[in-house]
Amino acid sequence: MKNGLEDVVAAETQLSHVDGEAGQLIIRGVSLDHLAGHASYEDVVALLFGGLLGQAYDRAELARRLGEMRAEVFAHVGAVDGPLLELPPVDIMRALIARLPDGDDLDTALRLLAAPAVFLPAALRLKLGEAPVAPKPALSHSADILAMLGDRMPSKQEVAALDAYLVTISDHGLNASTFASRVVASTKAGLTSSVLAAIGALKGPLHGGAPGPVLDMLEAIGTAENAEAWLLDALDHGERLMGFGHRVYRVRDPRADALKGALKRLTTADPASHHRIQLAEAVEQSALAILKARKPDRPLDVNVEFYTALLLDALSFPREAFTGVFAIGRTVGWIAHAREQALEGRLIRPRSLYVGPLPQQAA
Ligand code: COA
Repeated sequence: MKNGLEDVVAAETQLSHVDGEAGQLIIRGVSLDHLAGHASYEDVVALLFGGLLGQAYDRAELARRLGEMRAEVFAHVGAVDGPLLELPPVDIMRALIARLPDGDDLDTALRLLAAPAVFLPAALRLKLGEAPVAPKPALSHSADILAMLGDRMPSKQEVAALDAYLVTISDHGLNASTFASRVVASTKAGLTSSVLAAIGALKGPLHGGAPGPVLDMLEAIGTAENAEAWLLDALDHGERLMGFGHRVYRVRDPRADALKGALKRLTTADPASHHRIQLAEAVEQSALAILKARKPDRPLDVNVEFYTALLLDALSFPREAFTGVFAIGRTVGWIAHAREQALEGRLIRPRSLYVGPLPQQAA
């Protein structure tokens, strides 16, 4: 048995490849370096969905229909009641997605892409006692998310930064949430069921729940001079340093630099943000040195969540929404994998090793 299925190959995919030794991510034949900062979210949807959802469609048509779906799902926001509003934003988002019909066609897929993008900003505004802002279907997906969040037209730089984030995290091999999506799809349940399972897997702090705590950590450290003592103390208390370590990467996660680049392009003129990036870089250097000394046999490097925290913060997402924004970006990967599994795979049904007691033998 392989604990945590480490190194077990459980699916064949044409969608993405994570090279953990070289620190490279390939999405459908394109290296992340050529996507992040260059492609829009809609480009990556077209790339990942191509051939998996039946009909042929071009990028412009797909963008138009995605905009229409944002307008359609907005009606579900009215279902948020008092008890639901008490839940964390990602749970409100999940509950609203559970209202959507199941299915395996392009409309279901586009509705599922639209849903988290609409439900998360609406949930955040409702929690603040503000009215949700209706989607504007003619905007790009990223622009509309920011418009719904802040009730203002975002700048070009902000849209580019969110696009870079959504593209960077769109797909990433057989991570825990994508595996969950494929397991559900392997039973021939529909895409909505797959996405709901995936959100459940994503929200844990070992997977998509880390960036909020990264920001907490940076704020608690406060200054570069404090970093070493703070980090050593955390490790002495048995804590893990959030934003470091990865199951597959043994070198730096390439997504970290893609996001750091997007962050720097977004915040060039702002001295407070510049100071924050400097602090993050100092904490990163200190953490890497400490982890190397403490865990010489386990290469631990920075992962995607570290700069995610700073980028989403700079885009005015509150930290309790970070996991939900991750879900907005990763849904396209979950859907593509679910379709690939449903079209080509078998029912996923591994076995377990029984280590419990045996029935009492009759005397
Ligand atoms: N800080 C401190 N120690 C860490 C660590 C971290 N971030 N990540 C791993 N380690 C240590 C473990 O304690 C373990 O040490 P041990 O063998 O002495 O017990 C060793 O490295 C191996 O860890 P393991 O839990 O087997 O690795 P994994 O492949 O199961 O875990 C993560 C991968 C991502 C879950 C893990 O690195 C982690 O918890 N990181 C922090 C959370 C995070 O940033 N998540 C976002 C991932 S994109």
